[in-house]
Amino acid sequence: MADIHSAAEAPRITRREDYREPDWRVPEIELDFQLDPAATRVVARLWVQRSSEHDRPLVLDGDGLTASRVRVDGVEVPVEMDGPNLVVRLSGSAHLVETEVEIAPERNTQLQGLYASNGMLCTQCEAEGFRRITFFPDRPDVLSRYKVRMTADKARFPVLLSNGDPVGSGALDDGRHWAEWHDPFPKPSYLFALVAGDLVANRSTFTTMNGREVQLGIWVRAGDLERTHHALNALETSMRWDEQVYGREYDLDVFNIVAVDDFNFGAMENKGLNVFNSRYILADPDIATDYDYDAIAAVVAHEYFHNWSGNRITCRDWFQLSLKEGFTVFRDQGFSADQGSAAVKRIEDVRGLRASQFPEDAGPLAHPVRPDSYIEISNFYTATIYNKGAEVIRMMATILGPEKFRAATDLYFERFDGTAATCEDFVRCMEDAGGTDLTQFRRWYSQAGTPRVTASLKQEGGRARLTLSQTVPPTPGQPDKQPMVLPLKLRLFGSVTGRPLCDEQLIQLRDPTAEIVFESIPEPPVLSINRGFSAPVVVDTNRSARDLAFLSAHDDDPFARYEAMQQLMLDTLVASVTSGRPDHDAVIDAVRNTLTDPALDPAFVAEAVLLPSDSFIGDQMALVDPDAIFAAREALRRDLGREHEALWRSAHEAVRNNRFEYSPAGKGARRIKNVSLGYIAASGARDAADLALAQFEASDNMTDRQGALGVLVSSTATEQRATAIDAFYRRYADNALVLDKWFQTQALSSRDDTAQAVEALAAHPAFTLANPNRARSLIGAFGVNQRAFHDVSGRGYRFLADQLLALDKLNPQTAAKLLPPLGRWKRFDAGRAAKMRAELERIVATPGLSKDMFEQASKSLD
Ligand code: ARG
Ligand code: ZN
Repeated sequence: MADIHSAAEAPRITRREDYREPDWRVPEIELDFQLDPAATRVVARLWVQRSSEHDRPLVLDGDGLTASRVRVDGVEVPVEMDGPNLVVRLSGSAHLVETEVEIAPERNTQLQGLYASNGMLCTQCEAEGFRRITFFPDRPDVLSRYKVRMTADKARFPVLLSNGDPVGSGALDDGRHWAEWHDPFPKPSYLFALVAGDLVANRSTFTTMNGREVQLGIWVRAGDLERTHHALNALETSMRWDEQVYGREYDLDVFNIVAVDDFNFGAMENKGLNVFNSRYILADPDIATDYDYDAIAAVVAHEYFHNWSGNRITCRDWFQLSLKEGFTVFRDQGFSADQGSAAVKRIEDVRGLRASQFPEDAGPLAHPVRPDSYIEISNFYTATIYNKGAEVIRMMATILGPEKFRAATDLYFERFDGTAATCEDFVRCMEDAGGTDLTQFRRWYSQAGTPRVTASLKQEGGRARLTLSQTVPPTPGQPDKQPMVLPLKLRLFGSVTGRPLCDEQLIQLRDPTAEIVFESIPEPPVLSINRGFSAPVVVDTNRSARDLAFLSAHDDDPFARYEAMQQLMLDTLVASVTSGRPDHDAVIDAVRNTLTDPALDPAFVAEAVLLPSDSFIGDQMALVDPDAIFAAREALRRDLGREHEALWRSAHEAVRNNRFEYSPAGKGARRIKNVSLGYIAASGARDAADLALAQFEASDNMTDRQGALGVLVSSTATEQRATAIDAFYRRYADNALVLDKWFQTQALSSRDDTAQAVEALAAHPAFTLANPNRARSLIGAFGVNQRAFHDVSGRGYRFLADQLLALDKLNPQTAAKLLPPLGRWKRFDAGRAAKMRAELERIVATPGLSKDMFEQASKSLD
């Protein structure tokens, strides 16, 4: 069993300031696996070296392991334990330490360490899973060269893979066989992987920039082979992109990816052997949406890019996690931007940041990009580490400019290759190659909370005066904040002529307040600020609805244009929630202008005309009233639907019979088609459900089919709704990834009865908590359905807590990830807040709670 804590005993806190170099190095390790789902024997031989003058024993991390024997330099020694860890007393400066343990992959429901999934055996070691396989100093600054030998039943596990290059294999008697893999690159234990299974590969070869041949393979079950082409193509594209954009070449002769059905996260960058959640590999038009196709390419690229930003240079300790994750997200965002519309990609990324990271930064689990402490590191694979971390890199890239930024990343890769580095090391490279001082900028790593900027522009005679101020809100453990460096791109436009009044400027706001004067301003100016979302902040401006409508039609920065429309929609919705007197005219006009502008990319139009989500509207308000927000948003949707019904219908009709094609144009057409269908339904048009059902039945791709299903699931047209839900289920009953969509779409329904419906779905025979994708598809989706989750009865809170407590017993990591919606109680009325707190208290008081859940729930109560 993993660490299990009752609420009464305080789990240990790990602190960044306590970092110490490892006492012992392990330059070489040999692992010998006798694989068997019920009982796998692991023999580990560690060549250890004392790292300095000290007399401390070798302490090897373990989690649920029992050593059947321990040998030092070939001589058996008594087994000495310190809690879960193995203590080995050594006299000299270098020794060979050999341990043997037995583990049971088929009983591993946490999916950390070595586990079984759908008949195969696979590993997940990041962050601290290796200690569930063998005793080892399981920390990222201990780098070792691995030799791995696996033996298994040949019929059940014909394919045996590990990191690095294959060096030998052969048959044994009694139906078993063996394979051996050597990885020449020293790596931390979290990058170890093995896979054993009955798999087939989609293979290709890639020739690197220096002419080296690399064998590529994407390994899946035989029936899935035809669904791997998109991922393989994305792998080749990302390998080339990293050579061209960052000068990074692949370094082994083999690169394998394996798709696994039961996986806690998206994917894992193990050296030369990436292991993926199958949802980020498998695609064909019938099962995957455009969103899935894009996500597959992005995750394949992300994991591949880790080979340099993560593997060749790894993290000194887990507080530095954003060193590899923030940078690698930034890299995969750049890759995706280069594959299609960069503007739409930026809009999607900012929407994601606002949906997940901003609420995190405003709530009880807020933490800096480089945290100061944790109880369970798995809880820190967060939107802050990943997505805010990527924004921090993006700001440095903006400040340095493209040439210096590239010089700085070159310097980083050169200076720290083969080492375990820190965020500080990275920033130092930015300074050294950029010739710039980032002392104050470093606060982005240490201060949590989303900065707020207030901007007000006044015209005085022939000048314009821009007043800026910034504040950073208090966050847990950080009541007082220092001013940040905020790189803000801005530009002024003339409200009469529509012409730009100056070039785009990049200013760095460093002080609490600042003033900028623009000379020779001949007409009333409109402010375009934080263009391209140059800083991950909230900007409050004194811009009128007219100004925003103007920018939504005339700004030359597509992101700023989208942003002006979003702000106009938000202002309108917040006003209608607070005043109860909706005024939809400005939004209706602005949407018309965008919809009828022939110069715009349909994919952009589809993003721009979408209303902000219920929860993003709620995030603007001190007290969230989910029902009032829902009503205000629906009223605006209905008016937009009615006012522009003819436009929505013609937009829908124009692309109705398109054949599927995965291309930016094809995606844009499907996006506007489905957004239009949504507005036709919102208008209350009598034929809307029939139109949706017709699309559902006729579509040749999952984007259109799921789009139609989503509209019907939220509709009151009982018959068409039931038809689609049934048909979808029957068609995809044997495809787990598509059934996830069936659960998820229903959990996101805007109908009044969604809380009850979700409770019923949790009892559906196809529902299981044992598969993380399935658990997330219902429970995770329900948690972000603001109106349904916050059902005034409190049943949503009770349901979530019940499910999380059940899931915690199987898989604490996945359970703890789904808790945050319960922690937002401070933003709700007293009745709801009390009910949310009661559930958190019930969770914390549960005997045998994991430390993962304990950390999330107890922090959420503060
Ligand atoms: N490093 C992986 C990725 O982002 C994610 C691993 C998550 N593991 C965990 N224990 N949280 O590519
Ligand atoms: Zn990553």
